Amino acid sequence: MSALRTAVVTGGGRGLGRAYAIALAAAGHAVIVNDLGDGPADAVVAEIEAAGGTALVSRHDVTDFAATAELVELAVERFGGLDVVVANAGILRDRTLAAMAESEWDDVIAVHLKGTFTIAHHAAAHWRARSKAGDAVDGRLITTTSASGLYGNIGQSNYAAAKAGIAGFTLVAAQELRPYGVSVNCVAPSALTRLTEAPLLRYEGAITDRRREELDPNWVARVVAWLCGPGARDVTGQVFDIRGPRVGIASGWRLEPAFTQPDDLDELDQALRSAIAAAPPAADMEGQRNG
Ligand SMILES: NC(=O)c1ccc[n+]([C@@H]2O[C@H](COP(=O)([O-])OP(=O)(O)OC[C@H]3O[C@@H](n4cnc5c(N)ncnc54)[C@H](O)[C@@H]3O)[C@@H](O)[C@H]2O)c1
Repeated sequence: MSALRTAVVTGGGRGLGRAYAIALAAAGHAVIVNDLGDGPADAVVAEIEAAGGTALVSRHDVTDFAATAELVELAVERFGGLDVVVANAGILRDRTLAAMAESEWDDVIAVHLKGTFTIAHHAAAHWRARSKAGDAVDGRLITTTSASGLYGNIGQSNYAAAKAGIAGFTLVAAQELRPYGVSVNCVAPSALTRLTEAPLLRYEGAITDRRREELDPNWVARVVAWLCGPGARDVTGQVFDIRGPRVGIASGWRLEPAFTQPDDLDELDQALRSAIAAAPPAADMEGQRNG
C-alpha cells in the first residue's frame, strides 16, 4: 500500500477539476486525473509531476458504468487503494424547457447524475469491502451540485434536475457510507471556467480583473482540499456554496409550517394560503431570501 492517499478527480483536466487535482496533489495525494480525450488530463498530470507530485491519467468516460469500475480498479492496482473521489465532470446544454431536445436532456443527466452514481457506486463497493475486511477506511466522496439545482435558473431544467438530484444523492450516500468510515459532502461552486465564461460574459458584459480573482477555481479547491483532509473526517452530509472568498452552507428543505387538514374545503384553501405566506421564501440565485 502506498504511503500517499489516493484521489480520483473526474473531469480533472480543466477548470475546477484541474484546481482540485493540483490542490490534492499538493496536500499529499496520488491523484488520478480523469477526463475525456487526449490532452487535458495529460497536461494536469505533467503539471503535478513537475511540482514533485504523483499523478496518473484516466480517460474513462464517467457515463460508462463498466469504465468507472476500471477507474477504481486502476487506483487499486497502481496505488493499492482509493481514499478520495471528487465527482466533478460536467457539461452544459442550456435551453428553455419548451425548446429542449431529448439529447440535451439525456446528455446532461448522463454526465452529471449517472456520472456521479457510477464512480460513487464503484468507490462505495471498494470501501465497503475494505471495511468488512477490517481495514480502517477513511474515505471521502465529494459530489458537485450547482446554484441552479439548489435555487433554480431559467434555461437549465436539465442541469438543475441533475444537480438537485446530486444534492439529494449526497444526503443518502452520507448516511449509507458513514458506517464504512466514509464522509460524503457536496459543493456548489462558482468559478470562471470554460463552462461559465460565455454565460458570465452574457450577464456581466465584461469580466473585470477583480471578478477573475473572485472566480478563481482555487477558492473552491481550498474547501475541497479541506474536506478531503484529516481535519474534516467527521463532516458529512453538508452542501457548501462557494463563491470565491465567500462560502456558506446551503441549508436543505424544511417542513415548515405544517398543519392538519381541516374538513371544509374553504378552510383548506385558507390554511394552505396562510402556510404559503408563513413559509420561508425560496432563495434567489445568490442563495438569499427572495422578497
Ligand atoms: N464553474 C462554475 O461556476 C460552476 C458552477 C456550478 C457548478 N459547476 C460544476 O463544477 C463541475 C466542473 O465544472 P467546470 O466549470 O470546471 O467545467 P469545465 O468544462 O472547465 O470542466 C469540466 C470537465 O469535465 C470533463 N468531462 C465532461 N464529460 C465528461 C465525461 N463523460 N467523463 C469524464 N470527464 C468529462 C470535461 O472534458 C471538462 O474537462 C461541473 O460539474 C459543473 O457543473 C461549475
